[in-house]
Amino acid sequence: MRTSVEILSLTDAAYRPMASDFLRMTPRMRAQTTMIGQIRNIYRDGLVPSGVKADVVDVGCGAGPDLNRFLRAKLFSGHQINAIGLDRVPEMLAVAGQHFGIPSDRLIEGCMTEFKAFFPANTVVAIWCRSTLFNVPEELHPSVLNQFNDSLIPNGSLFLRLKMGKGINQRPDGRQEKLYEKAEIRTVLGQAGLRVSRIVPYKDELGRTDVSWMGVWARKPG
Ligand SMILES: C[S@@+](CC[C@H](N)C(=O)[O-])C[C@H]1O[C@@H](n2cnc3c(N)ncnc32)[C@H](O)[C@@H]1O
Repeated sequence: MRTSVEILSLTDAAYRPMASDFLRMTPRMRAQTTMIGQIRNIYRDGLVPSGVKADVVDVGCGAGPDLNRFLRAKLFSGHQINAIGLDRVPEMLAVAGQHFGIPSDRLIEGCMTEFKAFFPANTVVAIWCRSTLFNVPEELHPSVLNQFNDSLIPNGSLFLRLKMGKGINQRPDGRQEKLYEKAEIRTVLGQAGLRVSRIVPYKDELGRTDVSWMGVWARKPG
């Protein structure tokens, strides 16, 4: 049985050579436009306290396509979105910098299991976590989600894209994928203090018939 540290480092080793692949494997999701609208509404409703560090954190931003779209979006005229990407793998962040020209102050090399070290309590308006949480060892999910909840401002928004199913999918390259059913992710998020508002099923963009996804929207209560 592998330890969490071993799983995290096998995951890094698997992703390192794949950094450029994630440019073509990350098509735009409509949910990203919805997320930008939600952030705009939180500002419009006057719910953003002072001391916020990020309008959105792209957790496991990979090679940066979603982060790049966030950075190019305007919240209001004259207010560019303050987006930051976090990823454990430096090769991913390097591609984000080289391919999209994302400045280094928008990219953090770090692990989501230490989210609060980067984003203290009530400093993040929204968290975008696409196809990433599942790689984290399952026993660490409650801690990661608790930290997300803590770092979000009240009424802050969370989007998770997860693979649907039961148990753990062990990939030959060492990565593990924790699969979720709707009821289970509702429970885990609820235990972390986050309220699920919507779960949307998605087909696999690469056409795999044995893989299905869900988008999970949650909110920190106000
Ligand atoms: C499947 S890729 C998804 C990348 C991007 N979000 C997308 O949708 O294309 C997973 C990414 O999460 C990163 N990652 C995995 N575990 C992580 C962790 N514990 N903390 C931060 N990033 C992590 C990997 O390095 C990789 O870039």
